[in-house]
Amino acid sequence: MSRNTLSLRNGDEIPALGLGTWRADKGEVGEAVKNAIAIGYRHIDCAMVYENEKEIGEAFEEIFASGQVQREDVWITSKLWCDKHDPEDVIPALKQTLADLRLDYLDLYLVHWPIALKPGSHFPEKPEDFLTPEEMPLSETWKGMEKALEAGLCRHIGVSNLNPVHLEKIAATTTHPPEVNQVECHPFLNQNELLAVCNKHGVLLTAYSPLGTGKEKDEDTPDIFTDPVLGEIAKSHDVSPAEIALAWAVQRGTNPIPKSINAERLRKNLEAADLVLTDEEMGRIDGLDQGHRFIDGKLWTGEGSPYSLEWLWGKVG
Ligand SMILES: NC(=O)c1ccc[n+]([C@@H]2O[C@H](COP(=O)([O-])OP(=O)(O)OC[C@H]3O[C@@H](n4cnc5c(N)ncnc54)[C@H](OP(=O)(O)O)[C@@H]3O)[C@@H](O)[C@H]2O)c1
Repeated sequence: MSRNTLSLRNGDEIPALGLGTWRADKGEVGEAVKNAIAIGYRHIDCAMVYENEKEIGEAFEEIFASGQVQREDVWITSKLWCDKHDPEDVIPALKQTLADLRLDYLDLYLVHWPIALKPGSHFPEKPEDFLTPEEMPLSETWKGMEKALEAGLCRHIGVSNLNPVHLEKIAATTTHPPEVNQVECHPFLNQNELLAVCNKHGVLLTAYSPLGTGKEKDEDTPDIFTDPVLGEIAKSHDVSPAEIALAWAVQRGTNPIPKSINAERLRKNLEAADLVLTDEEMGRIDGLDQGHRFIDGKLWTGEGSPYSLEWLWGKVG
């Protein structure tokens, strides 16, 4: 296996570092994707809920028409939103994403969250917007995902935001177990326990928010860009702390997808996949774990919700 690709269960290779597109706004995301491909990115992470797939689709069309790269040379992921969990809704939702992205197939389609909303409820505003895990179990939604795979609309299927218990359950009971689990993962949330479960089932862990979402932090919140340990290691390699966090993610066999719309940061982030850290440096970064989530999941657990943070992140299934 090359350092710059990771193998999935069937041996297919996925580029080890991809581009995230959440909060890459309309009017800038298309340019960012075109820049990223020109720089050498071959893995783009999208989602219907980011509301920018149409502009990304225009960029893809231009890129592939130019002959600069072929469709089959770029790994493209998208995700099923929470109000489309009825198995009958999966293929229509995927077809809409394919139309928006101007593609014939996806490389990977993920169930975005293990949370089901009533059709048309984009985000929960009241308790009635939810479907309970009993009303719409993930195992039912997964049947729709398997049909999408069998229909050739996507080459691989996976999940996102699954804790070890939920992952064990779905991995043990399905014809095509998930090939990827995309979760928050960075030096302050190293997900070692979940990574072990993923490895046991041959599931690749894709690391979202690998730079801690980059939002401005208050004093008590850990920050990749100012952390002294990352800063010290960065200094000795003459790179930035962000690059060290990304190098650490790739070196431990996870699959970071940092978002950037800035040409210089795009280039530096991609170069980080080639940076080699010593065992001692890897160990020091492992030691930064503090179970800190920047995406805390509270969106899903308001008053009257059938979901709790314990259910989402905890040890109950
Ligand atoms: N499955 C899920 O539920 C889920 C949840 C969250 C995220 N995701 C995916 O994961 C991707 C990445 O996560 P994220 O967007 O939350 O955050 P992130 O990649 O951790 O951080 C992105 C932020 O860091 C800045 N940045 C990027 N490179 C930098 C560098 N080298 N130095 C300094 N700042 C840098 C970006 O600003 P500039 O753009 O200005 O460079 C942006 O503000 C998302 O875009 C999305 O595709 C998935």
